Amino acid sequence: MSIRPRRSVLYMPGSNARALEKAKTLDADALILDLEDAVAPDAKEIARSQVCEAVKAGGYGHRELVIRINGLDTAWGRDDLAAAVDAAPDAILAPKVSSASDIFTLTGHMGHAPRSIKLWAMMETPLGMLNAGEVAATAKEGSARLSCFVMGTNDLAKETGARLDNGRRGMVGWLSICVAAACAHGLSIIDGVYNDFKDEDGLIAECEHGRDFGMDGKTLIHPGQIAAANCIFAPSEAEVADARTVIEAFEQPENAGKGAINLNGRMVERMHADMAKRTVQLAEAISGRGGAA
Ligand code: COA
Ligand code: MG
Repeated sequence: MSIRPRRSVLYMPGSNARALEKAKTLDADALILDLEDAVAPDAKEIARSQVCEAVKAGGYGHRELVIRINGLDTAWGRDDLAAAVDAAPDAILAPKVSSASDIFTLTGHMGHAPRSIKLWAMMETPLGMLNAGEVAATAKEGSARLSCFVMGTNDLAKETGARLDNGRRGMVGWLSICVAAACAHGLSIIDGVYNDFKDEDGLIAECEHGRDFGMDGKTLIHPGQIAAANCIFAPSEAEVADARTVIEAFEQPENAGKGAINLNGRMVERMHADMAKRTVQLAEAISGRGGAA
């Protein structure tokens, strides 16, 4: 299966026509066109029609297009979901997913929509943390569309009192449990946003923190955050070169029957060759995708 880079996933308010247009020129891997928290109640309907028009009109190139809807328990959620299905983005992002039954309700409403429309889930409630495994497991159900978790760290901070400063030490448990759930069931997982968008050093540190947890990328709020995420969530040149060395070592005839080999004083097992193949595939997917155009 080919890998889809999701290093940089930029939110933009669906009510902001200028941002929707500007996004066509930005070097983000994915765009979340938001109808939920970034849009004021009075602007919900205009945002919905503007976002769905933009998705239908296209022009976003390689960028994955995701519409974030309001919750089904709000006045707008059902209409958002119907309109989003009709616009047929790559995925629909549902807020505050807390249980497997939330996913089944959403997929039930999506009915016979094309299978290409995936479902992404915001993981941002205390109940969602307790149920992360059962939510992720719905990805294996025949009718399910779930393909990605998005960490909602601002909501988690609000709901739990866990803090976002001090290197996010209060978030470590929530990040870990969601990475484990996502990986157990073959989902991508994207880290939460860094609010202080003028603080580049802070952003870099937080991207590295998320990457070291195993996140595939970071959700972003401002175009100025894209370059750092693209760099930090991509394998470095040294990592790609090392990966190729590991793959080649196992391809040598003398290593054909071996499970573990000595590579310049380092033990390398076949699992490392599998990891190396993934690194090379991701690097190739990134370079194949080109730049901002
Ligand atoms: N997506 C696309 N374009 C964006 C953008 C975004 N998220 N944020 C800013 N821009 C554009 C602006 O429209 C502006 O474009 P222009 O130069 O063509 O006019 C340019 O980038 C510079 O914007 P800037 O003046 O630095 O930011 P701002 O003060 O206008 O807005 C925010 C700051 C935080 C309000 C804005 O970045 C934003 O709305 N971010 C997304 C918020 C969101 O979606 N939250 C929900 C999930 S947490
Ligand atoms: Mg939220």
